This record gives sequence, structure tokens and C-alpha cells, in this order.
Amino acid sequence: MASLGFTRQITSSAIEFPATTRRQRCGFSKNRIGFRILCSENQVSSTEPDLSVTVNGLKMPNPFVIGSGPPGTNYTVMKRAFDEGWGAVIAKTVSLDAAKVVNVTPRYAKLRAAGVNGSAKGQIIGWQNIELISDRPLETMLKEFKQLKEEYPDRILIASIMEEYSKAGWEELIDRVEQSGVDALEINFSCPHGMPERKMGAAVGQDCALLEEVCGWINAKATVPVWAKMTPNITDITQPARISLQTGCEGVAAINTIMSVMGINLDTLRPEPCVEGYSTPGGYSSKAVHPIALAKVMSIAQMMKKEFGDKKDHYSLSAIGGVETGGDAAEFILLGANTVQVCTGVMMHGYGLVKKLCSELQDFMKKHNFSSIEEFRGVSLDYFTTHTDLVRRQQEAYRERKAIKKGLQSDKDWTGDGFVNETESMVSN
Ligand SMILES: Cc1cc2nc3c(=O)[nH]c(=O)nc-3n(C[C@H](O)[C@H](O)[C@H](O)COP(=O)(O)O)c2cc1C
Repeated sequence: MASLGFTRQITSSAIEFPATTRRQRCGFSKNRIGFRILCSENQVSSTEPDLSVTVNGLKMPNPFVIGSGPPGTNYTVMKRAFDEGWGAVIAKTVSLDAAKVVNVTPRYAKLRAAGVNGSAKGQIIGWQNIELISDRPLETMLKEFKQLKEEYPDRILIASIMEEYSKAGWEELIDRVEQSGVDALEINFSCPHGMPERKMGAAVGQDCALLEEVCGWINAKATVPVWAKMTPNITDITQPARISLQTGCEGVAAINTIMSVMGINLDTLRPEPCVEGYSTPGGYSSKAVHPIALAKVMSIAQMMKKEFGDKKDHYSLSAIGGVETGGDAAEFILLGANTVQVCTGVMMHGYGLVKKLCSELQDFMKKHNFSSIEEFRGVSLDYFTTHTDLVRRQQEAYRERKAIKKGLQSDKDWTGDGFVNETESMVSN
């Protein structure tokens, strides 16, 4: 089994990498202190594809990262993630004052595909949450980050942070979180619910002027790599992604959840999830969002290649949305993602999912003779073009294959008798 190769990659020995500040890599040098990254020594069998990645100087045994959310809420679950072999963990988003974070229950709702014989218990394809960021005291979370880094110095722990519109607040949060020893920061510019009136989360990610200012504060303060997490609830996701990179972030992560209303209960006439008879729009995740996440990641990757391609080793892309298989992850990497995050997948299948993800990704790599992630990263990106160009290419192909009757050139060619076959001849898979 391919998973054997994966287990061999996780070793206890740690090697020290040269101390390079994030600013040295990005061409900034003011007021910076150095930081060190300890990482696992890579001992990959020559017959197994190598899943290890190095992203913004952070070395991971595989590209699979726990996405910010319930799977990174406390010491016990993050430790479990490291023990099971996740490439990195992004903790649940923290802020300065957890007392302002008040959650409700129920806060999750599921969408299922129709089951066998139309039963209501089919596979879960969509997941909605109205959960806020971490409601645990910051000091408690920081103690746990510190403990984790002491126990797992060679593993990558990333703090997800979010704060109100206050320069001093962001600076204090960054300072305190960095002191816990985390390897990087992911900035939650994307939480779709809760606290927009405090200019937090998506309220910043959806306003490019605000984002530019806040990103400026953050990047002037941070001494570890910074990833900006994007909301998909915006017309053009490349705009905030571009601003984040221009203002000094080393990476972009996409996507956070998609604004959704899960449904209306047709007996009670109340929306779901129902809290004391009422609800509020939430964030949609899981399998159903994967195609939307692919499109957003594709747009960001194209923008990064075009506008930041000359410094491609300085900037990273972390893809998120509906990953449950190695194939889902391969798709993101084929679009240019350096790492792949999983949140709802872990909530449904547990931390052991990483073994399946690694083994399936290695199977995909073996099938195509890829020996490393870099070998196939971004190779599918060049096959996206405009619809106008598709028409031009198809007309050219029709001319070349005139003798072969496949597909219809014009709507006038549809027939009544051959309708189903004609439809089938234009399906790609
Ligand atoms: C219950 C739940 C809580 C979440 N909490 C956070 C959070 O605190 N911070 C954050 O940046 N993203 C949060 N997310 C978003 C996920 O990290 C991820 O971006 C999104 O769910 C899409 O990925 P998935 O389909 O793998 O879950 C949360 C998602 C869920 C389902």
C-alpha cells in the first residue's frame, strides 16, 4: 500500500534549517527578528512518490493541513492531528477578547444526497455552520500552542487570528501569538458570520481599502510568514488576494465557507439550523463547495502566476474546500496549490483521514510517474481559457476532424430521435 511510504516520512529526528526571516525572503529588512524552523528529516523510500513540501520556508511531511475550525480547537485535538500525520495544523481562529464570542446551539446543519431507494440517509454533501471563532480565552490557547511546539518542535503549527479594526489590537494579538512559538499566521479575513459590525473577518476581506490598511498593519508587525484567508463571498476573489500579496503577505488561503441558508423546515416553516425558532445565514462547506473552491483557487493561481510569477517561490497558495480524497487534493495542486486544507472532512471522517489522503495522492502520482508534488503543481492551470477561445479551438478541431461525426456544431443539428445520443456526445466525462 502506498501509505507505507507515508509512514516512513514521519521521523522523529529534527534538522535545523538556516534562520531566514520572512522579510529577508520578501525583500523587507526593517525591524525584523530572525526565526528558526525545525523540520522532519525526509527519508522517503525511493520507490514511493515524495509528498513532502516546503512552503514559505516551512517544511511539512505532506501537503495536508488541518483547516481552521473544530479540528484545531484545543491541545488534545491538535496533538491528535500531529500524531496521525497531518502535514501542519491551523488552529481555530483566536482573537484578543474571547468573552465577546458567544456561540449558539444547534450551529451545524447537513445536506444529504438522496440515499439508496430514495432514503433520506444518503451521503453528506453539504455542511452549514453558524459557528463563531474560538470562544476559549486567548491565554489558554497560547499556552496550548506553546506546549504543542515544545512537544512537536519539528511540526508546523499555524495560528489563525482575527481582530477588530484597531492597529494596536492587531499588533498586540500578533505579538502575543508569535511569542507562543507558532510557525506562521493565517489571517481570517473571511469568517462570513458574526461580528461584521466590529469590522472583523469577511467585513475586511470584502472591502479592499480596509484590507489594504489592515494587511499593512499586520505585515509591518509580523515576523513569521503570513497567509491571508479569502472569502468566496465576493465578486472577484483575485482583488483581495492581490492586495494581500502586495501588502506583504507570503501566502493566500482560499476558500472560507460560502454564505448559505441550509433550508426551511416545511413542517415548522422555520429556517435551519433553528435556534429558538430563528436562524441566520451561515457558511457552507464540504463536498458541495469543492467545484466552487476549484474555480476560486484557479482564478487566484492565474493571477499569482501572471502578476507574481517572477517571485513564485516567495508566495504560496493554500487551497481549501470539500476535500475528502487524494483526488480532490490532486485537483487543487494541479491548479497550483502548495498545500491543501481540510476542515469538514475531518469532522466527518476523523483525523485518520490523512492516511487515506496520502495514500490516494501517492497512487495518483504513481499513475502519472510524478515523484514529487512540485512536478505536477500547476500543470492544469494552462488549460483554462476564455469561452471565445474554446469556440475558436472547437471550430478549428471540427475542420480538422470533419470526417468524424462527434458533437453538434450548431443548435440546428439536434434531432428528435438521436437527442439522447447527441447530448451524450457532448459530455466530457
Ligand atoms: C464548523 C466550522 C467552523 C469553522 N471555523 C473557522 C474558523 O474559526 N476560522 C476559519 O478561518 N475558518 C473556519 N472554518 C472554515 C474552514 O476552515 C474552511 O475554510 C471551510 O469549511 C471550507 O473547507 P472544508 O470544506 O474542508 O470544510 C470553519 C468551518 C466549519 C465547518
